[in-house]
Amino acid sequence: MRIFASLLKNINPKIEYYSRFSPSPLSIKQFLDFGTNNACEKTSYMFLRKELPVRLANTMKEVNLLPDNLLSQPSIQLVQKWYMQSFVELLDYENRKPGDTQALNDFLELLIEIRNRHNDVVPTMAQGVIEYKERFGFNPFVSSNIQYFLDRFYTNRISFRMLINQHTLLFGNDTNPALPKHIGSIDPNCCVAEVVNDAYDTAKMVCEKYYLTAPELKIEEFNLKTTKKYTPIQVVYVPSHLFHMLFELFKNSMRATVELHENSKEGLPPIKTKVTLGKEDLSIKISDRGGGVPLRKIDRLFNYMYSTAPTPSLEPGAGFGYGLPISRLYARYFQGDLKLYSLEGVGTDAVIYLKALSSESFERLPVFNKSAWRHYKTSPEADDWSNPSKEPRDATWEREWE
Ligand SMILES: Nc1ncnc2c1ncn2[C@@H]1O[C@H](COP(=O)(O)OP(=O)(O)O)[C@@H](O)[C@H]1O
Ligand SMILES: [Mg+2]
Repeated sequence: MRIFASLLKNINPKIEYYSRFSPSPLSIKQFLDFGTNNACEKTSYMFLRKELPVRLANTMKEVNLLPDNLLSQPSIQLVQKWYMQSFVELLDYENRKPGDTQALNDFLELLIEIRNRHNDVVPTMAQGVIEYKERFGFNPFVSSNIQYFLDRFYTNRISFRMLINQHTLLFGNDTNPALPKHIGSIDPNCCVAEVVNDAYDTAKMVCEKYYLTAPELKIEEFNLKTTKKYTPIQVVYVPSHLFHMLFELFKNSMRATVELHENSKEGLPPIKTKVTLGKEDLSIKISDRGGGVPLRKIDRLFNYMYSTAPTPSLEPGAGFGYGLPISRLYARYFQGDLKLYSLEGVGTDAVIYLKALSSESFERLPVFNKSAWRHYKTSPEADDWSNPSKEPRDATWEREWE
């Protein structure tokens, strides 16, 4: 414990120092250009040994603004320890000479170690939220802080892993021989319909295992950029991110569809997917006839504190309740978005929006600054719209006006 305390004393000024820099967002095009033209390991090393501590420090400063009752939960403490350790290990490279090949090799190994250490950050944070909820119950102020924080914290983590993966895939031994055309984790010619099919097939396996049936898939493409009748729509993107989002959406659509139509004579209505390409947006719409969700509940589906379930149900496709919020972060990470439009009683349309141009898909990164700080410190305002569930007006309001 003593050692930890003295370590903290030396480390805190470093966290302070690095957190004053804003992260430098890169575009998919920049990732691609760097990886294509004789990617230089030394250049990547020089960039990362500063940028990784900057991104870590920014998020570590923000963790500290969470309410004490939440911070003190054992799972949150554990996550903080991982961040601290990774930060300290990266600092070893602050002053090592770039010409030193040993340093390059050690650095690469360290990145892999850090990536593994942080594998379980999402379920562990979820556990922390559960611990908090069990002890203190649901609190709207804390919930809105957690929402704001986790969106930023998980985005930071996505970006951190993106940087690490690009480095280890380009310069390490773990390049994937099956994907020679990929630049790190980026596919310069990612065929969207192929990823749609892969994600559908995987979700279908999960669904069939539990329900013994799954709805069919129908795909249509509208490529407004070509006059020819059919050109498969491609995008420069990280296929694993796209797969993640589609897999989550298909699981949800399949579950809703089967649960609603399991016993109907007409069989299961198919899930329809539209892939469209315009000048600015590449959009993917997934439409199901699974009965939809009432408008009042749509926002909650993206709320971490609201949807965190203590034990993930045994039902396949049902996870922590983080499927939608995390998928939306992946979409937003490169300036896209994910939205749900539901017609209750009928079904749901989920739309993934991506930037059509890789030069426009810049990382969207949280910055730790005064206005972020303010978010945690201001208490929620009184509602300034009427609330129908409040008691009907009585004599008191008249008295207040006197
Ligand atoms: N297409 C859909 N149709 C009906 N309900 C849906 C659909 N997608 C999501 N939902 C509802 O939103 C909830 C949250 O979804 P998600 O974030 O993926 O978490 P999980 O699937 O683990 O519950 C689901 O449990 C379900 O009730
Ligand atoms: Mg889900």
